[in-house]
Amino acid sequence: MLSEFLTQLRASCTARRIPLISPESEVILRKYLEEYQPKTCLEIGSAVWYSSIVIASTIQKRGGHLTTFEVAYPAYLEAQRNMTSAKCRNITLYPFDITKSETIDNVLPLNCDFVFIDAQKSQYGNYLEKIHNNLSSENNIILLDDVVKYQTKLDTLYKFLEKNQINYNILPSEEGDWIMVLKNI
Ligand SMILES: C[S@@+](CC[C@H](N)C(=O)[O-])C[C@H]1O[C@@H](n2cnc3c(N)ncnc32)[C@H](O)[C@@H]1O
Repeated sequence: MLSEFLTQLRASCTARRIPLISPESEVILRKYLEEYQPKTCLEIGSAVWYSSIVIASTIQKRGGHLTTFEVAYPAYLEAQRNMTSAKCRNITLYPFDITKSETIDNVLPLNCDFVFIDAQKSQYGNYLEKIHNNLSSENNIILLDDVVKYQTKLDTLYKFLEKNQINYNILPSEEGDWIMVLKNI
């Protein structure tokens, strides 16, 4: 069963010190996915795919699709194995740094209505610059993980928000690991 697979994957990541979303952030992620029922989802920073499986399995029943980017090739290879075990067929995984590859613009999905960002904190603003033309103009939700623990690294994020006059909410998650929510930017 998928929940058993996720429990084992969380335990294995914790034992190997592979970063993944906290259980509290997972609850928030699931809550937004259930509430907004997005179809075209984008993730930046999939590591070995824990959060990707959470997103993909939640949106699968409504015909949703997840496109996700992971720059570290060993993590990408492990994610591919996890893809087979989790039997999630609604994910496309790219082994790219989303800020660097020139081919990114060709593979970024259009009209994204849900984005989960959990990669390098100092690049959060660059990610938003990269994707904001690919957001759905009708409805979009962006969740950014870990915005309190790493608040000293978030200059690019706050510059982007200020430049574009974007309001935000920050929700409590695990201690120090809070999530920023942007709606309809
Ligand atoms: C905190 S981990 C992601 C954990 C994952 N979201 C989960 O909960 O299972 C952050 C990941 O972002 C990746 N990353 C960092 N910068 C990136 C970039 N520019 N493009 C794509 N992936 C990136 C790192 O290699 C790392 O595996």
